[in-house]
Amino acid sequence: MSHSGDPKPMTARKSPALRGVAAVPGDKSISHRALILGAMAIGETRITGLLEGEDVLDTAKAMRAFGATVTRTGEGAWSVNGVGVGGFAEPEGVIDCGNSGTGVRLIMGTMATSPITATFTGDASLSRRPMARITDPLQLFGCHVTAREGGRLPVTITGAADPMPVSYRTPVASAQIKSAVLLAGLNAPGQTVVTEAEATRDHTERMLTGFGAEITTEITPDGRVITLTGRPELVAQTVAVPRDPSSAAFPVAAALLVPGSEIRVPGVSRNPTRDGLYVTLLEMGADITFENQRDEGGEPVADLIVRHSALKGVSVPADRAASMIDEFPILSVIACFAEGATVMNGVAELRVKESDRIDAMAVGLRANGARVEDTPDSMTVHGTGGLKGGAVAATHLDHRIAMSFLIGGLASDQPIGVDDGAPIMTSFPDFLPLMQGLGADIA
Ligand code: S3P
Repeated sequence: MSHSGDPKPMTARKSPALRGVAAVPGDKSISHRALILGAMAIGETRITGLLEGEDVLDTAKAMRAFGATVTRTGEGAWSVNGVGVGGFAEPEGVIDCGNSGTGVRLIMGTMATSPITATFTGDASLSRRPMARITDPLQLFGCHVTAREGGRLPVTITGAADPMPVSYRTPVASAQIKSAVLLAGLNAPGQTVVTEAEATRDHTERMLTGFGAEITTEITPDGRVITLTGRPELVAQTVAVPRDPSSAAFPVAAALLVPGSEIRVPGVSRNPTRDGLYVTLLEMGADITFENQRDEGGEPVADLIVRHSALKGVSVPADRAASMIDEFPILSVIACFAEGATVMNGVAELRVKESDRIDAMAVGLRANGARVEDTPDSMTVHGTGGLKGGAVAATHLDHRIAMSFLIGGLASDQPIGVDDGAPIMTSFPDFLPLMQGLGADIA
């Protein structure tokens, strides 16, 4: 969407103590899935707390293009009248998923077992990202795929008219691969089985259960084995989307780094497959308390109270990477303000996100005075209890890179700028007013 427009430079400056309530937006992963499963269900699905960022709005548009009726009924309130499993119509135009890897990959899975053809595109960032990791397993169902060199977008898929169920072991820890296969399996007869060596976010499995599908997860010596029985009738649901722990990470980090701060972040998902950053921050000595732990819409949530903290560097084990995969950019900023080295292991997947996040963070942090080492699959930040700042970081069409540097600038000696903050609209449209409301000097 609009991130193909003019770049929006932004700057963050040393700020007074942050105070107040940070009501971060709805979870991006759950928002995509609520629209997609709503479109595959019979009846009216009502969603509240939907993230109205560009990524999710692109998925809403795509669901309309495949024949579902998708209507905004209020702030974050949406209604989806689905077409049923196997009921997708062939879209008339190209499906533009903008900046969203989750959107394009999950939707490819969803249509791959219906006898229709669709062409998918995206922005410059999405067009550089690997899609063969999705289209390879989808071809096992019998669909036909044409792609640019290296499996990149634009990709055209003609779905299987007579799909076969599939058994697939994911080659990398990726909830997008797992979810694409499960969504394709919905319209294949028999059992589709996905095995993953490490647990990745499980929102698809939880939500499929909620919509009435038969799906089981078994922990075996081989990994997590997820079995879905195809051709269920999905029944429309009411979905309350919890607040996004990946978006919460930014005000949480700001409160930890800016002296004197104390903020409350209500209703954040504490799903254990998304919790790695919070586990890591507690190990670093962060003062975070979790109040009112409860269940909302099939997900555990809590209110977070976060206070400024003196932090120490830690080593983050590789087997925790999947549960905090989107939080390494902000962790690398936090690590600059800790005392000692923070080592992030097993993070090769960061190189194929909206940008090469290891490179983007290492280059930008070094320009701002930090000592950072990186290897193909790790990053080490040598924390000194502070950050000099004074440089402008390149964000490479990546919302999390932009927000991470801006948070660093709230506590660094000199201001930190970003060349383009426009991509923040993909996941956290109210980032600036929310941070300003807490007292952050950022514009
Ligand atoms: C997501 C999965 C992760 C994550 C992305 C959202 C999802 O990607 O980085 O932001 O909603 O399934 P991978 O599955 O590629 O690790």
